[in-house]
Amino acid sequence: MYDTNSHATGRVSIVIGISGPSKYFCLSTPAPLVVLSPAQVMVRPTDPYEYLHYDMVPAHNTFKLGYENILARLDNPPFHDLTNFMGYCEAWAVSIAGHHDSEEEVVFPVLNTKLDFSREIEQHKVIHHHLDEILDIIHKAKDDHSEFDPAKLKSLMTSFKEPLYQHLDEEIEHITPDKMKVFDVQVMVKLDADLQKYVKAHGDPFLLVPYMRSHTPAELKDTWPQMQWVLRKLVIPYVLARRYSGYWKYSPYDMS
Ligand SMILES: [Fe+2]
Repeated sequence: MYDTNSHATGRVSIVIGISGPSKYFCLSTPAPLVVLSPAQVMVRPTDPYEYLHYDMVPAHNTFKLGYENILARLDNPPFHDLTNFMGYCEAWAVSIAGHHDSEEEVVFPVLNTKLDFSREIEQHKVIHHHLDEILDIIHKAKDDHSEFDPAKLKSLMTSFKEPLYQHLDEEIEHITPDKMKVFDVQVMVKLDADLQKYVKAHGDPFLLVPYMRSHTPAELKDTWPQMQWVLRKLVIPYVLARRYSGYWKYSPYDMS
């Protein structure tokens, strides 16, 4: 049964570990995360009407965590490690873009048969305009470190916050299990399967998967997203995360 407490929100403190001695600090996020209920953290819901909401909440939180993390570092960016820091920023940006692609390709066409997700589609356009500008700075800085302008990136990130957070929160509210009840349960089952299939087939797994896992809190790691133990404990930390291993020192959580 759907637990309405899953919409509870609250400020969180993120403990961020940076490789190297004595460089741990706490970042208090100014924006609340939507959190899952304790029951949902322990076990994936069995009601197909809950699947979409259950998967979307932690996914959106990874984007907020990355946003807060990047913004906090732009006052004192790691110039000595710019390739990796820009790579981390790129992983955050392309993770959002890939997430939106999956929604536009798989989720919204189904939901739009009985609900209206035109607002979300318009919000995506605004967000992608911001992301393109941010990615342009990131790519230029990766190519030529002297081009990096943290003040400009911070300004873009700051103006990006409202459209990003508003969209992420509104979409979560729009896909609550009660609203999904207009669909046949088989539609929800197929949507879940199609979405998982799409996600597995698109994007760079060496970038997107380690980003997701290192922005998923420990208490949720065994439950979300659904995956085999061998993937969670071996393939992701020891294979996928290796290719861009320098990026993930900027992540808030451990890889596995
Ligand atoms: Fe979403």
